[in-house]
Amino acid sequence: MTKVRTAVFPVAGLGTRFLPATKATPKEMLPVVDKPLIQYAVEEAADAGIETFVFVTGRGKTAIEDHFDMNYELESVLKERGDDRKLNSVTDFRPNSGEIVYVRQVRPEGLGHAVWCARHAIGDDSFAVILADDLLLPSGLALRSMIEEHERTGANVVLVQDVDPADTGKYGIVTPGGATDTATVVSDIVEKPSPEDAPSTLGVIGRYVFHRSMMDELASTGRGTGDEIQLTDAMAASLSSRPLHAVTNPGRRYDCGTKLGMLEATVTVALERDDLVDDATTVIRQALEAGTDRRQT
Ligand code: G1P
Repeated sequence: MTKVRTAVFPVAGLGTRFLPATKATPKEMLPVVDKPLIQYAVEEAADAGIETFVFVTGRGKTAIEDHFDMNYELESVLKERGDDRKLNSVTDFRPNSGEIVYVRQVRPEGLGHAVWCARHAIGDDSFAVILADDLLLPSGLALRSMIEEHERTGANVVLVQDVDPADTGKYGIVTPGGATDTATVVSDIVEKPSPEDAPSTLGVIGRYVFHRSMMDELASTGRGTGDEIQLTDAMAASLSSRPLHAVTNPGRRYDCGTKLGMLEATVTVALERDDLVDDATTVIRQALEAGTDRRQT
């Protein structure tokens, strides 16, 4: 079994749920407090031992590439000012030259298609897939246990958590077929079923660890839900040749693809930061009181 050292970040999506903010800014660059979602995702991957970061990008996403490049002007100004804290904040997380690979998805044709676009960058190795709009904390915890599961068993691995029964139409949903000490053995998986058709409430959240053969499955996957090439359909097809294990999320997940999830992540992260907790508590309290007053008048 090859070690998992590469992660694929599909970042070509349009981000229509956050318009107008995402008209000219990639959704992956939206910040939670002061850090863009994509930086959380890259740091999480690095925390889990990932060494090569493959971005599947597209039109209008150059801000992501710029974010991970050196900004000479900014860095020399911060150096001159002796502002080490700010300087470190723009240099610490940066992968080295050659550790980030950019591939283009020419047309948006679905998540499965986006992952397949990374096939040449993956080579013959197993790989992780990270969807940056699912923010997972503590950083690296879930991905590390998924990588361990894959390296120990050879199974493809997805991360799941129990979702509201009314929300099955937002997720890939797995059918549990058995269990090991560390994972649920998946007997089927379906993309975004209605609550009436959902086989369970175990929803896939945006972390995957795959054997290289998933790329071959994707190559022969036709269009599915939403007329897109779905990663979920390739996973369903792979069940006949390789087991699929679902690891239950051991930490917290914020759905930053939605406005409320973004708000929840922002409030939570602010309250967890030593430099912000006191002031954040005050402004949140004041906003709640003002909101109550407004509702009463
Ligand atoms: C994608 C996947 C879905 C998964 C979800 C997790 O859907 O297709 O199976 O449950 O990510 O966030 P999307 O949210 O891109 O519509």
